[in-house]
Amino acid sequence: MIRANRHYAKLKASYLFSDIAKRVAAYQSENPDKEVIRLGIGDVTRALPHACIEGFHKGVDEMADDATFRGYGPEQGYDFLREKIAKFDFNSRGADIAGDEIFVSDGAKCDCGNFQELFAQDIKIAIPDPVYPVYLDTNVMAGRTGIFEDGRYQGIVYLDCTRENNFLPELPKEPVDLIYLCFPNNPTGTTITKAGLKEWVDYARANKALILFDAAYEAFIRDEDLPHSIYEIEGAKEVAVEFRSFSKTAGFTGTRCAYTVVPKECMVYDEAGEKVSLHALWNRRHCTKFNGVSYPVQKAVEAVYSQEGQIQVKALVSYYLKNADLIRLSMGELGFTFVGGDNSPYIWVDGQGRDSWEFFDMLLSKAGVVCTPGAGFGKCGQGYIRISAFNSRENVEKAMMRIAEALK
Ligand code: MLT
Repeated sequence: MIRANRHYAKLKASYLFSDIAKRVAAYQSENPDKEVIRLGIGDVTRALPHACIEGFHKGVDEMADDATFRGYGPEQGYDFLREKIAKFDFNSRGADIAGDEIFVSDGAKCDCGNFQELFAQDIKIAIPDPVYPVYLDTNVMAGRTGIFEDGRYQGIVYLDCTRENNFLPELPKEPVDLIYLCFPNNPTGTTITKAGLKEWVDYARANKALILFDAAYEAFIRDEDLPHSIYEIEGAKEVAVEFRSFSKTAGFTGTRCAYTVVPKECMVYDEAGEKVSLHALWNRRHCTKFNGVSYPVQKAVEAVYSQEGQIQVKALVSYYLKNADLIRLSMGELGFTFVGGDNSPYIWVDGQGRDSWEFFDMLLSKAGVVCTPGAGFGKCGQGYIRISAFNSRENVEKAMMRIAEALK
């Protein structure tokens, strides 16, 4: 008899964003005449930058000719792209990352979900609350937690992010082995300073722990003093892996491309306490389970690093940041308090005593606006909603007017 992975039974029935999509679809089928504006899942709405489209076309044309056609590429990504990523995203900010420490992939969600495979079953894991659900759910699937009780999985060290600590996780009181951090944060939109990040790097070094640093929203940082990468912090190369994505940076949610940085200095430990290269482990996994991102997509991404590409990508991100400004202004005028939205596309709004899902349902039914209920990101998200700035200016303006009307 083929038996199911019993740990899946501990999960909530469906993934947060699938759950929301179902509710929205049900609303739409009951109200076919109502136009719904989606400020829920962080999915981009604007076309790829022109430079990327040109790169993409060139890549496709090369595939059309036997002389330039390419079959399997290197699993880790083509050198032309890995070298540019290292130079522009890291070396230019003083972070000493080499091209062969970059693993190009089809998404940061997959990478940060898959990375936990490299670790022992009985490690202690610290996860912020609220949190992007992938970090938690993938460890539940892997059997690293107990059951879900009172809104939490047993065995996880939750790092509460609340109004009291400005939604910033604090160092765990008990020793942990693996720490998930995400800045600019999803879902709260908060950022971390270099000094704040240094505390985590120092903690990881002192405790032989590892940080999985999700920097998928790095392109939204406009504040000069904020770190864009954990490798801007001294010593981080020994204790941190960083995930980046072109989804939000360059509009690749549908085109798919991301990368993970695994520095060669980064070590984990075997049963005997001997050092094991994390780079070698991830490389082994990557080559076994992944055949690389398609050549035309990598050519499209390469163009992000051209002079025009850099200008266009910046303009694209600024467009969404202006939407975020409008959301902040409008929610503020309506008397709500919030964080995020200045170096982030997400605005984390305090529902003033409303239950997250009730607030979500009310905005959907009365305003036809989709947000994300904070409780879907964890216990500490209860009472909040997340509003995403990913939509057209016109729709964001309309959504804000409708919300104001619905709350009258
Ligand atoms: C989100 O809305 O949190 C993100 O779009 C989800 C993702 O990037 O997978």
